[in-house]
Amino acid sequence: MSGVAGWKAVDPKWSAVDGLVEDVLLEDDAELAACIARSKEAGLPDIAVSPAQGRFLQMLVELTGATRVLEIGTLGGYSTLHLARGVGEGGSVVTLEARKTYAAVAQANFDASAAGGRVEMQIGAALKSLAKLEGPFDLTFIDADKPNNCNYVDHALRLSRPGALIIVDNVVREGNILDPAEDDESAKGTRALYHYVAAEPRLEATVLQTVGEKGWDGMMFLKVTD
Ligand code: SAH
Ligand code: DHB
Ligand code: MG
Repeated sequence: MSGVAGWKAVDPKWSAVDGLVEDVLLEDDAELAACIARSKEAGLPDIAVSPAQGRFLQMLVELTGATRVLEIGTLGGYSTLHLARGVGEGGSVVTLEARKTYAAVAQANFDASAAGGRVEMQIGAALKSLAKLEGPFDLTFIDADKPNNCNYVDHALRLSRPGALIIVDNVVREGNILDPAEDDESAKGTRALYHYVAAEPRLEATVLQTVGEKGWDGMMFLKVTD
């Protein structure tokens, strides 16, 4: 291990493979590059999804035919732009962000992007915004404060149409969810999510672990039963 992404260790080979994917499979994209550059310039933390993961999210939106998408945790809007591209011209994305300074960067990124007009950002604590939101949504991407993961899935479930997809980021955390440290509230909140989901008959669930330029982590995929 020689690198770090956020708090996560990164094997140089994991980054190299992501580099290959980006160079060979993902075409150069001025809007996404500008989004990353603007976010970096503004001092936002380097915790957005990777380009390969972003493309995967976009493909999931396209493959499921989702046109109404909800995102919890905007940061600079990098994942949001992928979701917005995926929903197509008539589609929409509602994204929730607590920090005004991050939201300003994200809005600049949306304003500079062709699909940005499909995004409605709501600024403030996500739980407050969620309480007032009306569904139904076809797909929800949860990527905010991890101690609230169960609350967010609870709201997403309430706001989902039958057959909808809910995706939760960062559910492996270098394996820290196996035996969360007493002071690791993110790992504890995420571990609790596994048990919450297991006890919820309306959700079918799996987790895919990933390694890459963002370290060792994974996403949870939840299908809302019909
Ligand atoms: N989805 C983004 C990354 C999100 S990082 C991407 O992949 O590009 C997590 C974000 O959640 C941060 O911007 C953080 O400010 C926000 N956040 C944390 N707690 C929150 C809360 N209670 N309500 C809304 N947003 C919150
Ligand atoms: C963190 C948050 C994320 O959503 C992520 O993808 C990676 C790291 C964090 O808070 O450190
Ligand atoms: Mg994340």
